[in-house]
Amino acid sequence: MQFAGKKGLILGVANDHSIAWAIAKRIMESGGECGFTHLPDRADDPRKRSRRRVSQLTDPYENAKFLIPMDAQKDEDIRSVFEYTAKEFGKIDFLLHSIAFADRDDLSRETVETSRAGFKLAMDISVYTLLACANAARPILNPGAAIATMTFFGGERCVPGYNVMGVCKAALEAAVRYLAFEMGAQDVRVNALSAGPIRTLAGRAAGVDGMLDLYKEVAPLGKNVSHDEVGATGAFLLSDLSSGVSGEILHVDGGYHAMGSPGRLLNRLR
Ligand SMILES: NC(=O)c1ccc[n+]([C@@H]2O[C@H](COP(=O)([O-])OP(=O)(O)OC[C@H]3O[C@@H](n4cnc5c(N)ncnc54)[C@H](O)[C@@H]3O)[C@@H](O)[C@H]2O)c1
Repeated sequence: MQFAGKKGLILGVANDHSIAWAIAKRIMESGGECGFTHLPDRADDPRKRSRRRVSQLTDPYENAKFLIPMDAQKDEDIRSVFEYTAKEFGKIDFLLHSIAFADRDDLSRETVETSRAGFKLAMDISVYTLLACANAARPILNPGAAIATMTFFGGERCVPGYNVMGVCKAALEAAVRYLAFEMGAQDVRVNALSAGPIRTLAGRAAGVDGMLDLYKEVAPLGKNVSHDEVGATGAFLLSDLSSGVSGEILHVDGGYHAMGSPGRLLNRLR
């Protein structure tokens, strides 16, 4: 029960495939209490599908303490989420930021053709929101608390097809290092988990389906990573087990990032 007595906020559950849900489940099953946000439903959706998709997951969990809407592009939404969290939890011990978005048109274009509006949108949602949420969380973070965000190898190296999102992930990883330094002063750790390709809504939009075979062939472990493996490492980064780790980009990709050649795939190319 690594998370017994711990409370925190999970940002970025859209459905049961979301990486944030894999991490949250692990935390709740280890005794942690979680608050959740969902994307606000459109006024013309009487079925409130965004909320329903998440509440179907959280309702059965006693340790899922609240579910409130947040569009991370809106400062007032971020403010009210952290005010609500302070009211419900007082202080918190962990914050998961698992949010990214780029317009499909921009993702399918070559990076060099990214539109100015698409670039701003992708950077705002996928990078700035980490800074904004970390800042809003500051007054309610307990000493020893941890923040984690989600990144991908396309931020370190060129992964054709990942395009503007790769530029965003490079910026996000830089943000992690600056936040780790600044928030270390209040004994708060900031890290990123760099996951291999996983089938999710955002993953599909970013071309994950085309990467799964490649990762399986090239990664030292010879397989793709599972939701559960990413969930366990995310929980580790948000727990006291990683109390000496900050400013880190931790790869959960079967070792793919460590390769400097196509490895076993070479045998097939010969
Ligand atoms: N799936 C993969 O292969 C993979 C690999 C490495 C990193 N990641 C990263 O993991 C994170 C989570 O993605 P996922 O794969 O679980 O997909 P997902 O679609 O389940 O999660 C993305 C989340 O971002 C949220 N979001 C988008 N715009 C938002 C806004 N304006 N305000 C609030 N929330 C907003 C969505 O509601 C959704 O919950 C992303 O940062 C993604 O880049 C994914």
